[in-house]
Amino acid sequence: MTPMKLLQDKIAIVTGASRGIGQAIAVEMAAQGAKLILSATSIANLKDTADLVKAQNNQSCILTQANVAIGDEVTEVVKKALDTHGKVDILVNNAGITKDNLLAIMPEKDWDDVLSTNLKSAFLFSKACAKPMVKQRSGVIINISSVVGITGNAGQANYAASKAGMIALTKSAARELARRNIRVNAIAPGFIQTQMTNKLGDALKQKVLEQIPLGRMGEPKEIADVAVFLASEHSRYITGQVIVVDGGMVT
Ligand SMILES: NC(=O)c1ccc[n+]([C@@H]2O[C@H](COP(=O)([O-])OP(=O)(O)OC[C@H]3O[C@@H](n4cnc5c(N)ncnc54)[C@H](O)[C@@H]3O)[C@@H](O)[C@H]2O)c1
Repeated sequence: MTPMKLLQDKIAIVTGASRGIGQAIAVEMAAQGAKLILSATSIANLKDTADLVKAQNNQSCILTQANVAIGDEVTEVVKKALDTHGKVDILVNNAGITKDNLLAIMPEKDWDDVLSTNLKSAFLFSKACAKPMVKQRSGVIINISSVVGITGNAGQANYAASKAGMIALTKSAARELARRNIRVNAIAPGFIQTQMTNKLGDALKQKVLEQIPLGRMGEPKEIADVAVFLASEHSRYITGQVIVVDGGMVT
């Protein structure tokens, strides 16, 4: 008999699932038996992820288009999951952007865009999923924060503030929802190889690499493996925590 998978028949929403960490989380969750609702700014962008999941697990995903910073669009994604499957077990708030600049010259719009896409989105999705999860008396929410939400970072006041906000949201929601058997945790990745970090210059990459005790950048799968753990019963007594996955950079 094949052993039961960690997320067998769990219904999972993953935002920003078109590439990078979100794509890896989708692939690993599907490999563990989850049924996926993937969200991105365009359906076309989700095709690669859907093809990967199909190839590896012979499974179809529901693809949804949404700007995660817009309440009505977020509600539609969650409604689609509920209409199709009747429940939502796992929410992964992964979508995120950077618009780096020094504080003194940062355009107000860049502050607003980053805070809306990274932090407000997590509030909107958590709110939309909290209702069905409370009714079900079960659920898991995973917020993809960042180590810079803990340490701060020059040139990233907007991004770091959004990621610190996600940590506070995680801890507050965890306290609020624990009685309903809903767990809320955050992952704080360090320096992970994706398109987000590819755009950094070689000199900056080298400087960051020197600060990583394990001596290399992380792989998206290394974040996805932790997300699977946090979504599974293996972490059933963990809530309100921030799991740092950074090769030892922040201690
Ligand atoms: N790569 C890293 O080193 C690193 C480190 C710490 C935290 N993170 C966080 O991990 C998450 C994923 O990052 P990544 O490196 O895979 O980045 P990425 O740029 O490769 O992917 C980001 C995803 O978010 C989506 N997205 C962006 N704006 C959106 C919007 N308004 N609506 C819907 N979707 C939107 C993009 O389409 C894409 O799918 C982000 O929240 C990022 O801040 C990344």
